Amino acid sequence: MELMSVNKRIRNIAILLAVALILVTVIRLYYPVPSYSSVASYRSSSGIAPASYHAGDVEITDDQEKCDIFAGEWVPNPEGPYYTNKTCWAIHEHQNCMKYGRPDSGFMKWRWKPDGCDLPVFNPYQFLDMVRGKSLAFVGDSVGRNQMQSMICLLSRVEYPIDVSPTSDERFKRWKYESYNFTFGYFWSPFLVRSGSRDSDGPMHTGLFNLYLDEFDESWTTQIDDFDYVIINAGHWFTRTAVYYENGHIVGCRFCQLPNMTDLPMTYAYRRVFRTAFKAINGRENFKGVTFLRTFAPSHFENGLWNQGGNCLRQRPFRSNETLLEGLNLDLYMIQVEEFRAAQREEKKKFRLLDTTQAMLLRPDGHPSRYGHWPNENVTLYNDCVHWCLPGPIDSWADFLLHMIKMEARRTYKEKLLQHQKKMQ
Ligand SMILES: *[C@@H]1O[C@H](CO)[C@@H](O)[C@H](O)[C@H]1NC(C)=O
Ligand SMILES: *[C@@H]1O[C@H](CO)[C@@H](O)[C@H](O)[C@H]1NC(C)=O
Ligand SMILES: *[C@@H]1O[C@H](CO)[C@@H](O)[C@H](O)[C@H]1NC(C)=O
Ligand SMILES: *[C@@H]1O[C@H](CO)[C@@H](O)[C@H](O)[C@H]1NC(C)=O
Ligand SMILES: *[C@@H]1O[C@H](CO)[C@@H](O)[C@H](O)[C@H]1NC(C)=O
Repeated sequence: MELMSVNKRIRNIAILLAVALILVTVIRLYYPVPSYSSVASYRSSSGIAPASYHAGDVEITDDQEKCDIFAGEWVPNPEGPYYTNKTCWAIHEHQNCMKYGRPDSGFMKWRWKPDGCDLPVFNPYQFLDMVRGKSLAFVGDSVGRNQMQSMICLLSRVEYPIDVSPTSDERFKRWKYESYNFTFGYFWSPFLVRSGSRDSDGPMHTGLFNLYLDEFDESWTTQIDDFDYVIINAGHWFTRTAVYYENGHIVGCRFCQLPNMTDLPMTYAYRRVFRTAFKAINGRENFKGVTFLRTFAPSHFENGLWNQGGNCLRQRPFRSNETLLEGLNLDLYMIQVEEFRAAQREEKKKFRLLDTTQAMLLRPDGHPSRYGHWPNENVTLYNDCVHWCLPGPIDSWADFLLHMIKMEARRTYKEKLLQHQKKMQ
């Protein structure tokens, strides 16, 4: 009986919220914010579909709440993409595939369709409304930066952020959406733990890193208290040669060819760094936010490894029955999820899985390949099958994220109502 009345109240409040949001929407439609109207003319000439913001998008339906949004297929989306390299300045040079002559554009015209429900395409207005007064940090490697830049481009239909970075160091950025008092933080930490170059003249000498598997990388662990959401990721850097430390002592290394050292697989380090990163988060007294683990996004080198001429030349997504998560990809994924579950079980902080692995496994067509630079340029990753072109499939991560933030709001609401109920008894 009590539960029923809670449900009824939730429904009433949901209706109130929907009405409030419709009002906000109507107001916004008639009185667009200045930054929007200035990009609007720009946008309409480039033929990009305008943003719509229907009340129907706001509510999460029951089938969506129960649905596993991460199991599904890519389906054609003639409306995409939602920005171009002409409307968005935030595209990283090496992911500006159209600039460097990528001949096909079909890879920008897909959206993710979960098997059990529909996942709405990202709505930048709704997102900014939901994160008003909040902040979101990306912690990890350049694929995390890739995601942040995708979001800046998707949000550029509403507003561009201003650079409020504490230093000029490109590894630590802050972007602020002034009209929404919303901030993105970016923390470069490809190994998530304390690391260093083994050689005094930098890692380029032998390419060897020292990884301190049980030591926090304080450049981010001491900074997250201010953030409401933290999206954490790591993966591709663990294929590099490195010497592994635990308790301040060398425990082994990966492909380092130093005398008397135990060779350890990258999975050894991978498990320990997630354990350490989650321990750091669980130990932050003042951190009240939600941590999203953005799971490993597989690379798609075919016919060779990254440094042996491997490339990614496909022009359409796989269907889910055409490929399988296996080998190292599966191992890395399982390790992440296991360590994530262990951290969650401590019940100290909120942990959520932004489980992009399956969706991205199906996108061999979304990487820059050789279109991340001019043909005559001498770059390390000549055929890039790791990062994602912008616009491109990584834009769908925003669809997932918005859904999860809505779920978070719903959860908070239910908790508050239950607390209220308890007090009334
Ligand atoms: C955008 O891409 C086009 C090709 O579609 C290219 O000609 C142009 O230089 C690019 N512009 C920017 C600003 O990257
Ligand atoms: C902006 O948000 C922060 C929290 O992220 C809050 O402390 C601050 O008071 C807000 N400022 C305004 C002007 O609302
Ligand atoms: C390697 O181990 C052997 C036997 O324990 C020892 O004699 C040798 O000095 C060690 N070499 C290095 C470089 O530590
Ligand atoms: C995968 O599924 C699709 C649609 O159900 C089907 O048409 C196709 O033949 C299947 N492909 C394979 C390799 O099983
Ligand atoms: C590319 O750069 C590397 C390191 O900077 C250098 O060793 C190599 O010779 C260069 N290759 C070409 C083709 O210029």
